[in-house]
Amino acid sequence: MSDFKTYQNMIETALENYLPKGEYTEQTLIDSMKYSLMCGGKRVRPLLTLLFCELCNKDAKIALHYACAVEMIHTYSLIHDDLPCMDDDDFRRGKPSNHKVYGEDIATLSGDAMQSLAFEIMLSDEAAEKVSAQNACKAAFTLAKYCGTLGMVGGQVIDIEHESKNAPIEILREMDEKKTGALIKAACEMGCIVAGASDEQIAAAREYGGCIGIAFQIMDDILDVTATTQALGKPVGSDKDNDKSTYVSLLGIEKCRELVDELTKEAIDALDVFDADTTALVDLAYSLAKREN
Ligand code: IPE
Ligand code: IPE
Ligand code: MG
Ligand code: MG
Ligand code: MG
Repeated sequence: MSDFKTYQNMIETALENYLPKGEYTEQTLIDSMKYSLMCGGKRVRPLLTLLFCELCNKDAKIALHYACAVEMIHTYSLIHDDLPCMDDDDFRRGKPSNHKVYGEDIATLSGDAMQSLAFEIMLSDEAAEKVSAQNACKAAFTLAKYCGTLGMVGGQVIDIEHESKNAPIEILREMDEKKTGALIKAACEMGCIVAGASDEQIAAAREYGGCIGIAFQIMDDILDVTATTQALGKPVGSDKDNDKSTYVSLLGIEKCRELVDELTKEAIDALDVFDADTTALVDLAYSLAKREN
């Protein structure tokens, strides 16, 4: 099994480094951003960006700004997802949610600021030293597209508007593709884009990301029923409490596990177009399909 520790350490150090240094009048905002960003997420999305960059025969380090940008967008989505006006969850990443510590006003603004910081670091001079202006622009465009109206934010709206309804499978698929699959796709595609990959390779990364993205949300919904709050670092039973429509509420856990296995196989098949060694991304797909947190 591949060991991702080195990549994960690189990501932790870079994330911390990209936060504003020094003392500012708006220090509470920076403390609140750091509180959610530097508290032990699994870092799956930035890992995908680095692994896809390497798969396209480039040093993973050139993708570090872009990998961290996806993690910042993801962390902002979690801060907002936990707010009382959304899922109203009090724990995240093993600690009280951002709004429980900093209040709803600062938590909202912290998510907003983390979103702009993501674009700031992708378009920074340091990022430009390693990636051509054209590819940097294409990567930033890709993240903007997938995190916005028809991507993650759109998916969150579908989620909220289908609470207390029996949403059909097609809607659940669209919801999961957008609220979770879109950012995971962005992470995979951006790794290829900054490495200067071909359109065929970028399309394969999109296919892999799309499949593991839906599988990832189905696993998240399974764990909301089967795991413990301690293992997850966030409240279990949140979906039931909010009367959410999920694959698990519609199909049951066994059928969901089968779907996760099918999607994982589909993701792995998509890697066939790459010449380089795909072991790390194959191992990652399998490990996500049997994750316990
Ligand atoms: C949780 O994502 C939210 C979903 C989109 C399912 P993760 O399970 O990746 O959360 P962290 O980053 O490890 O906290
Ligand atoms: C989250 O879905 C998707 C996001 C875009 C944040 P969930 O609401 O199921 O995520 P968790 O379970 O709170 O992490
Ligand atoms: Mg939610
Ligand atoms: Mg939630
Ligand atoms: Mg969930």
